[in-house]
Amino acid sequence: MKLLLAALTITGASGSDTFRDTLTTLGDKTTTKYVGAAVNEGWFSDASYSGTASDYYNLVTAENSCKFSAIQHTQGSFDFSSCDQVQKFAEDNSMAFRGHNTCWGVNNPSWLDNGNFTSPELVDILENHVTTVLKYYKGKAVAWDVVNEAISDAAPYDLKLNTWNNITADEVNTNYVDVAFRAARQADPDAKLFYNDYNVASSQGWSQGKSDAMYNMVKSMLDRGVPIDGVGLQMHVGTGYDLVDGVKANMERYGDLGLEVHITELDLVCSQKNGYDCVWSDDMEKQQGELYATLLQACLDTEACTNFETWGFTDAHSWLEDGTHPLPFDENYDQKKAVGSMLDTLAGY
Ligand code: XIL
Repeated sequence: MKLLLAALTITGASGSDTFRDTLTTLGDKTTTKYVGAAVNEGWFSDASYSGTASDYYNLVTAENSCKFSAIQHTQGSFDFSSCDQVQKFAEDNSMAFRGHNTCWGVNNPSWLDNGNFTSPELVDILENHVTTVLKYYKGKAVAWDVVNEAISDAAPYDLKLNTWNNITADEVNTNYVDVAFRAARQADPDAKLFYNDYNVASSQGWSQGKSDAMYNMVKSMLDRGVPIDGVGLQMHVGTGYDLVDGVKANMERYGDLGLEVHITELDLVCSQKNGYDCVWSDDMEKQQGELYATLLQACLDTEACTNFETWGFTDAHSWLEDGTHPLPFDENYDQKKAVGSMLDTLAGY
């Protein structure tokens, strides 16, 4: 009964409008093809969860189950069962599936992080993982985050120290980022290959330094013939985020390089302008809704921006702390003001 009521609330409140349907009606008016969300297969059995995801969104990413630790928990043995559940959910609901990710310093199995592997051994491990995963999902993923979060948070924004960074320049004559992208292109020449990171969305304000570093890294990859098709701007930010103009400018400069941009992991924690002392209120919910809409508008307006995606979709299941209300649907799968604002933005485009 509870599930039925929840389902009725969703349809009742929104009429037949959903992000995916409204985006479809826009057709060629925008190059933005997807409004997406990260999902976790652990909640698919909850009809409110899977129903909201499949009704509203036309792209999903696995929150965790396609990461290195999920797929190659044991060295040399590949387990796609959890990642497959998300890919099949996408297929069954005519949604696109976005792969996340094949190379990161986090969410790695202990055999990898504690293995004390030599540089040539790590090159083999990386190439084998990237190749096996990309080949397995050949033709089934619209994009892969080949490398995630490689850049340090402070000047000079070198590559972060992690397991993969033990691959030395001498060994590969470049670095592990290049190794991963080259392996990915070889494994599936048709897959769109993305570099994905956080605090890199705006080329202005506090994120300018890391944003410029990422832009320079990606440009250098292109200059050196390393295959890359797009960049993911995560955007774990807050309701007080005020660098939207810089986000547009940043997306445009990637477009000028011939790259696609995906907003990949957007969530807006309840925050006061310069801090995180959240006081959730109608006003705050409105502010959040308006910001979601403004960012969506920026994506729709920017030719390079083809995917607008949040990290989860319901406050019931967010990686962020309880009480931060970061996502468009509330804990009960009811629409927050963000849903209406985003639908208005799409419908009015
Ligand atoms: C997070 C998941 O949401 C959590 O469940 C997990 O414990 C850690 O990873 N940047 C990324 C995502 O690229 O993979 C992260 O996902 C959030 C930050």
